Parts: sequence; structure tokens; C-alpha cells
Amino acid sequence: AQTMKETIGKHFLIGAAVSTRNIYSQDPKVKSAIVDNFNAIVAENCMKGEAIHPEENRYSWGDADATVKFAEDNNMVVTGHCLVWHSQAPRWMFKDNDGKTVTREVLIDRLYHHITNVVSRYKGRIKGWDVVNEAFEDDGSYRKTPYYNIIGPEYFELAFKFAHEADPNAELYYNDYSMSKPAKRDAVCRLVRDLKAKGCRIDAVGMQSHNGIDYPNLNDYEASIDSLAACGVKVMMTELDINMLPSPQHFGGADISQRFKYDKTLNPYVNGLTKSAQKLFNERYLAFFNIYAKHKDQISRVTLWGVSDADSWLNGWPVPGRTNYSLLIDRKYKVKPVVKDIIKLF
Ligand code: XIL
Repeated sequence: AQTMKETIGKHFLIGAAVSTRNIYSQDPKVKSAIVDNFNAIVAENCMKGEAIHPEENRYSWGDADATVKFAEDNNMVVTGHCLVWHSQAPRWMFKDNDGKTVTREVLIDRLYHHITNVVSRYKGRIKGWDVVNEAFEDDGSYRKTPYYNIIGPEYFELAFKFAHEADPNAELYYNDYSMSKPAKRDAVCRLVRDLKAKGCRIDAVGMQSHNGIDYPNLNDYEASIDSLAACGVKVMMTELDINMLPSPQHFGGADISQRFKYDKTLNPYVNGLTKSAQKLFNERYLAFFNIYAKHKDQISRVTLWGVSDADSWLNGWPVPGRTNYSLLIDRKYKVKPVVKDIIKLF
């Protein structure tokens, strides 16, 4: 049977996020699920600031090195994720030794060293970097992260410039979720134009695409692909998955998630999806890939956020200990039946 990488891969990169557990796995099923179906990988966690740069004068390269080597050994493209993000940031980044918030000058200097050292280490081996991740609120305003609060909005151009200096051939990306929301998408378009006007390189925008059965609205989602492409960048679906489980917000807020850990209403598919849920899953994935096929000239990559359902972060977020079915490869590392229909769209 034909695989996603043989078919979809002719039009744009088709990737998966890999954990270090995946990379070091001795199970041949895991490795073939990755290399037979995909032609691109991104590290799920090990290149994030807190993991790769645990102390100001100490980097922890082992897992990232192994991930890049895995890709090279198997002829796969690597995306670097991510250089500037308020979450999973280097823990020491924003405070000095006395616990005081650092000055603008100090943070710019730390950012410079972080970006320069990480990007240089993989110079020529990583196709592109998510330079800034999740920096806007859904209403289009700047997210008030420590980077924003301490440096101001100039941190975007600084980060893109530092990354470009460290590896002039690497592609550079902005990445965010809820990109179908018009206000957010417009803010990102303004950022792209602004960066370009300032002479910065930006190749693509990532629409994370942590999708559900009833969100995003498909028309808005498709409109975002067109608007972003019209700003002169490629569009990538960087973290695609479909959450099949209800969100605890519907029950009064994420803070009560622990209480619902064993609540059947929040974890209804422990023994498998029901027939109707399976049908929704298939239809939803086909609807998204139908859009990707239609927009294939504007899209440079679609990456699933995880290899198999066993690996998906959605088993643990926002409610821990659930059984989710968010990806195209099942818990036994078998490609799901819907994939042959997805392939036919291309
Ligand atoms: C997630 C990982 O999948 C989890 O393992 C980790 O605990 C938290 O981060 N947006 C992003 C990704 O850009 O880096 C996040 O990955 C998911 C949301």
C-alpha cells in the first residue's frame, strides 16, 4: 500500500513530532511507524529552552543531538522547535542571582546567547526554526510574556535576526495556535509584514492545528491559510491532532481537571472509540486534509503532533490520565484505515 510520505510527500513535507522515548525506542514498530510514513520530524520537547539550556552556562545537547542524528540516518528533514516561548523557557532566563527580574539589556544578551548557541550547533542540519512560539492572544494583542514585558515588541525582530545570523540558510518561522481566529491571524499577518519591512527573514507561519471535532470553524481555518499566504509566506500545519475527548472547561474550568480524572464523562473511550465517534474522527481528518490538498501550493509542511495515539500529549492534557485517539497511527503503531482515503485526496 502507498504511504503518506510517498503520496502527500510529493506536495509538501509530512511530519511527526517525536519524543526522546520514540527516538531511543528499541521497538522496531516505533521506528518504522516514523520512517515509513513521514519524511520530516520535530522534537516534541528536547529542543525547548528548559530542556536544552537548563542553566545559563550549561546546555544539555544529548537528546537533541540524537533526534537530529535519527533524522539524518533516515533521510528525514528536521524542524527546530522552538527558540522563544514563554512556556518551557529556560528557568533561569528572566531572573538574576538575587531573584530580581533582569534588565532589558541582560535579557537581550541572554536571548542572543541562547539563540546563537542552539542554532549554530545544528547549522546546516535543521531546515528551519520556530523562532517565536505563541506570542499573541486570541484577540490579536501581544501576549504579555516576560520577553514582551522586559524587552518590548522588539524582541521579535531581535530573535529573528539572531537566528538568521547563526544559520543564514535556515528557514525561520512564527508558530501559534487558534490561528483560524481572524483577530489572531490578522495580528500574525501584521507581524510578518513588519518583520519583512525591517529586513528580517521569515519563510512560513505555523498554524499549530490542535483541532477538535467542533473547532475550528473550517471556513475560518481555510481563510487563514489564504490570508497568511497572501502576506508572502508559506503556511505550515505544525502540530496537527484532533482531540476526541471533552474539554474540562465545559465542566467549569481546567483547575478542576484532577477531580474528573476518573470521571467517565471526561474519559469515555477507555476501551476504544464508539462507532459514531470513529466516524466523526474519520470525517474530520478527511475535511482537514481536503483543505490541505486544495491549498497544497501554499502549504510547505503538515506535521502530526506525535507518532501514535500512545504518544499523544492529549492523553495527558488538559486532564491527566485519559485515553485519547488524536492521531493517524493507533496504539499498536498501525496506520489507521482513514489514511488510505486521505491519500486518495492527493
Ligand atoms: C507539548 C508537548 O507535547 C508535551 O509533551 C509537553 O508536556 C508540553 O508541550 N504547543 C506547542 C508544543 O508549541 O510545544 C506543545 O507541546 C503543545 C502546544
